[in-house]
Amino acid sequence: MNIAVILAAGEGTRMKSQIAKPLHKVCGKPMLQYIIDASIDANVEKHIVIVGHGGQEIKEYFQEGDLIFEEQAIGQGQPYGTGYAVMQATEHIDDDSTVIILFGDTPLITENTVNSLIQYHTSGGFDGTVLTAILEDAKGYGRIKRDKKGNISKIIEHKDASEEEKNIKEINSGIFCFRGDLLKKALRKLDTSNTEGELYVTDIVEILNKEGYKLGACTIDDPTEIHGVNSKIQLSFSDKIMRQRINKYHMSKGITIIDPDSTYIESGVKIGRDTIIYPGVTIEDNTEIGDNCIIRGNTRIVNSEIKNNITIESSLIEESIVESNTNIGPNAHLRPQSHIGKNVNIGNFVEVKKAYIGDHSKAGHLSYIGDATVGKNVNIGCGVVFVNYDGKKKHKTIIGDNAFVGSNCSLVAPVKINDWAYIAAGSTITKEVEEGALSIGRSSQVNKEDWVKEKGLMDTK
Ligand code: UD1
Ligand code: MG
Repeated sequence: MNIAVILAAGEGTRMKSQIAKPLHKVCGKPMLQYIIDASIDANVEKHIVIVGHGGQEIKEYFQEGDLIFEEQAIGQGQPYGTGYAVMQATEHIDDDSTVIILFGDTPLITENTVNSLIQYHTSGGFDGTVLTAILEDAKGYGRIKRDKKGNISKIIEHKDASEEEKNIKEINSGIFCFRGDLLKKALRKLDTSNTEGELYVTDIVEILNKEGYKLGACTIDDPTEIHGVNSKIQLSFSDKIMRQRINKYHMSKGITIIDPDSTYIESGVKIGRDTIIYPGVTIEDNTEIGDNCIIRGNTRIVNSEIKNNITIESSLIEESIVESNTNIGPNAHLRPQSHIGKNVNIGNFVEVKKAYIGDHSKAGHLSYIGDATVGKNVNIGCGVVFVNYDGKKKHKTIIGDNAFVGSNCSLVAPVKINDWAYIAAGSTITKEVEEGALSIGRSSQVNKEDWVKEKGLMDTK
C-alpha cells in the first residue's frame, strides 16, 4: 500500500502572516490542496496530514473525508521539526507499505512527479528515495551529499552547511519515499544536534545510509515543480508559475489569451472554445465561461456562470448567471444573485443586485436595479433607480414584459409595473401601474411667459 504523509504543521514564521502557511492561496486554491490533489491523483491510497499551527482552520477547510489528520503538539518545550511531524503518523504506517513524504509548502508538485518518484523507488528496489533538483540558486534548501560512487549519503541543511557544502547545487525537494518499517525505525534515531535544535526528517537519509540500506536520488527535470514556499516572495513565484500553467492549459483547449502574462485565471475556472480573453482580465473561483465570448478590459469575474457569445467589457461580475448573446459593460457591476437573460444589454455604469432580467431587455446607462424581477423586452432608461431599501428592510420591484421605464425614474419598492406599462421620464413611482397604462409621477411643468423680462433680468445680459 502507498501511504502519503503530508507535513503542514510548521509555524511558517517567514511568511509573517496570521494565516496558516498551508492555507495561503496560489491561483485561488490553498497550497496544501495542490499537494493533496497531486497525491490523490497519483492513486496513493491513504493520506495522513500533519497539522499544528493553524490546525483548526486547516481541518475546517478540508474536512476529514478521505484524509486522516494528526495533530503535532506545538508550543514551548515541545519537540519541533519535519522529523517530529512525520513521527505523528507512525501508527498509520504499515511495515510493508511505501510511505511518500510530501511537504505542504510545495504547491507546484504534479501528479506525474509523485508517480515517477514512486516508480523510480519501487522499480529501482530502493529502501529510501529522495526527489532532488539542480538549482542555480540553492539558498535555503537542504543540499544533497553524494559519496565517491555518486550515491546519496546525506542531506545537509543550509544553516548547517559549510561554505563548501553551500556550493552544492543539488537540493532536497522535501519529497521522499521510504519503506514503512525502515522509516519508523530511523525516526526513533533522530536527534536535535543541528543549528535549529529540531528533529529533521532529512537526517533519515544518513541514518539509513550508515546502516547499509539502498538509497536513491531521483532528479526532477523541471525544478520549478519543487519550489518551496517559505516567504511571500516565494509565494508570488509559485503563483506566477501556476498562472502560466493554467493559461497554457486553456490555450491548449482552444481559448485565445492575448497576453498570458497579464491574465489571471484561477485553478477552478472552466472556459469554452474560441473565447477571447484580453489583457487585464481576472477570472476567479469556480467561474464557468462558455464558447465564443469576448472578455475585455479591466474585467473581474468571480464564481459566475457566463454562457455563450457574451461580450463583457471592463466589468465586475460576482456570483451571477449571464445567459447567451448578452452584452455586459463597459463598467457594469453584477452583484451576487443576479441572473441576466439572453440578448440583454447591461451597459455603462449599471449596477444589478439580486435581480432577474428577462430576455431582450435593456438597461444601457447609469441605473441601479436591486431586488427585482424584470420581464422580457423591457426598456430601463438612463438613470433609473430601483429604490429597494427603507433604512431597515429591502423590498422587491416587479416589472412585467414589454414595459418601458423612462429615464431618471425612481421605482419605490415594493411596487409592481405590469406588462406594456409606460412610465414617464422623471417619475417617482410608489403605486402599482396597470397593464398598458401610462404613469406620470411628477409635478406638471409650468411655463411663466415673459417672467425673465419682467424681472428686469434680460437687460443685465
Ligand atoms: C525543508 C527541508 C529542506 C528542503 C526544503 C524544501 C528539513 C529539515 N528541511 O526546509 O531540506 O530543501 O524543505 O522545500 O526537512 N513542518 C511540520 N512540522 C514542523 C516543522 C515543519 O509539519 O515541526 C512542515 C511545514 O509546515 C512545511 C514542511 O514541514 O510544510 C517543511 O518545513 P519548512 O519549515 O518549510 O522547511 P524548510 O526550511 O523549507
Ligand atoms: Mg519550506
